[in-house]
Amino acid sequence: VSDSWATSGVDLHLETTGPGVRVGLETALRDAIRDRRLVPGLRVPSSRALAADLGIARNTVADAYAQLIAEGWLAARQGSGTRVAHQPVALTRARVLPAASPLPYDLRAGSPDISRFPRSGWLSAARRAVNDAPSEAFGYGDPHGRLELRQALTGYLARARGVRVTPDRVIICSGFTHGLSLLCRVLRSRGATALAMEAYGTADHRAVAVGCGLRVDTLPIDDHGAVIGRLGDQAGVVLTPAHQFPLGMALAPQRRTSAIEWAADTGGIVIEDDYDGEFRYDRQPVGAMQSLAPELVVFSGTASKSLAPGLRLGWLVLPGHLVDDVTAAKALDDYTPALDQLTLAEFITSGRYDRHIRRSRLSYRRRRDRLVAALQGQAPQIHVTGIAAGLHALLELPPGYREEDIIECAAQRGLALEGLRVSGCTSVYTDSRTEERPDALVIGYGTPPGHAYNAAIALLTAVLMECAPA
Ligand SMILES: Cc1ncc(COP(=O)(O)O)c(C=O)c1O
Repeated sequence: VSDSWATSGVDLHLETTGPGVRVGLETALRDAIRDRRLVPGLRVPSSRALAADLGIARNTVADAYAQLIAEGWLAARQGSGTRVAHQPVALTRARVLPAASPLPYDLRAGSPDISRFPRSGWLSAARRAVNDAPSEAFGYGDPHGRLELRQALTGYLARARGVRVTPDRVIICSGFTHGLSLLCRVLRSRGATALAMEAYGTADHRAVAVGCGLRVDTLPIDDHGAVIGRLGDQAGVVLTPAHQFPLGMALAPQRRTSAIEWAADTGGIVIEDDYDGEFRYDRQPVGAMQSLAPELVVFSGTASKSLAPGLRLGWLVLPGHLVDDVTAAKALDDYTPALDQLTLAEFITSGRYDRHIRRSRLSYRRRRDRLVAALQGQAPQIHVTGIAAGLHALLELPPGYREEDIIECAAQRGLALEGLRVSGCTSVYTDSRTEERPDALVIGYGTPPGHAYNAAIALLTAVLMECAPA
């Protein structure tokens, strides 16, 4: 045991006193596994041996091992000790959506129609932004992000999403995923050990939290959204209140209040992932939850659905007590280019952003209506939900249908699909211990370019009819 350990070349740098020992040990082990200095299958020393080696308490090592087993980095098997797991969570993560499907038609969720990107409006805004930029804009930037963009977003978010915001509370980041990573790092540095996320959430987001050393607890979902009553002592909870991803319901008002009460009682924070809040079709948009309690809720928005994921632009609106620490974390990353920020600021203040959203909303609404009509006409056995907002719908499959069969059958006909449980790109995370839902497809009706949409829907209905179980 000690031989294989020694030859694996693990260099464990540890604080040897104080409460940081266990955390230091966990971090050192995670880093070593992530970097492959500890390879899958390698047996780690017994807690007694490692404790003696490092001169620390045996319980400290045992607790650290237990935590890493819970996170999936290590695996314990009766009789054969503790080994490095074969599929550590953070190494098996998949992208939210691969850059492009090799298939000609794509109805997976996660992307708007990127062929609609407003190229000429963006170019005009970029020209203006570069012309008008003060020289200091070409220097090293402020980690908060450009003030011009923070001011523009302050006006937009207050007006369009009901967010209570001033520019000093806004941090510009590279999309929600980056914002989440900043928050997880700050929470971890403050001693947090766990974060709660909604069942079926995006695998990437879980991987980000686990990669920061946090345990991720799963909140089940019912017809009213995330079951807030199941929150415990986590340091925070990530919610999609306007349009649950991927099931599609809005978080019920009572649940919103309960989440705020939980945060007030426990000191936890609510992270509001408002990824597609601009797109609501049948009623007024559901306002941001953040407005109920700006000191307890982090509001996070992104340009990934409203414009394009390739921009890598997002924003956090923070409670006062998080601003300095999140800014310090952001300063270490030092990306989100100033000229792109200035261009987006100009795009918003010139009114182009609102116009683009309004046009897109109309277009996606028509697509949604076409999808629903096509299914009603040709596959009435399919129950469609989650369509009041956003760019995706949930198609519940009748008993006997299996997601994997439909996905496979569609792929043979050139159509990329993903399911709630099984998906081609594993964009959705299923916790089978907490959720038992019928098999379903998550249809991203925003994804195809306009010219391919009708054909993609025709293929979908054909697949649902022709690939029905025998
Ligand atoms: C639930 C959810 N949140 C946020 C995002 C956006 O992430 P990002 O801003 O990092 O592109 C997505 C993208 O598909 C998503 O599905």
